Amino acid sequence: MSRIDRCQVLPLRRISAPQGNITPVESERDLPFSIERVYYLYDVPGGESRGGHAHYALQQLLVCVMGALDVLIDDGCHRRTVRLDRAHQGLYVCPMIWRELHNFSSGAICLVLASEVYRESDYIRDYGEFQRLAGDGGA
Ligand code: TYD
Repeated sequence: MSRIDRCQVLPLRRISAPQGNITPVESERDLPFSIERVYYLYDVPGGESRGGHAHYALQQLLVCVMGALDVLIDDGCHRRTVRLDRAHQGLYVCPMIWRELHNFSSGAICLVLASEVYRESDYIRDYGEFQRLAGDGGA
């Protein structure tokens, strides 16, 4: 299986009630990794993009908890764009995937659940370098 095929939109639980919804996420039950870090992207100005890097080891689940955005994922061989616009769905991103986040709607909030603490040494920020390291996309 190529790396890009490992990057799937995972359905998350939704506990609905007349007073609103709850989506719980538990490492063991809902994710293929243990959560070590949580961060969120917000107040992204119109027209701005984020990401533009890959990680050697980090696994992530990206959840657009408010609004919508597009996530471009690229394993060095194949690329596709996933629209995230539901608080009860998350895009799993495995290691060695180039990602770019585009087209944030006004007020969008993207929650990121990550398998490791922040380490700049885990980043690959140059696309040419990523392509050299990514090989055949893991196929
Ligand atoms: P970066 O991951 O490059 O942002 P994005 O991919 O969303 O555009 O991070 C931007 C800056 O924030 C960078 O200088 C490192 C810092 N940062 C942390 O200190 N801790 C974190 O958990 C994250 C995600 C970023």
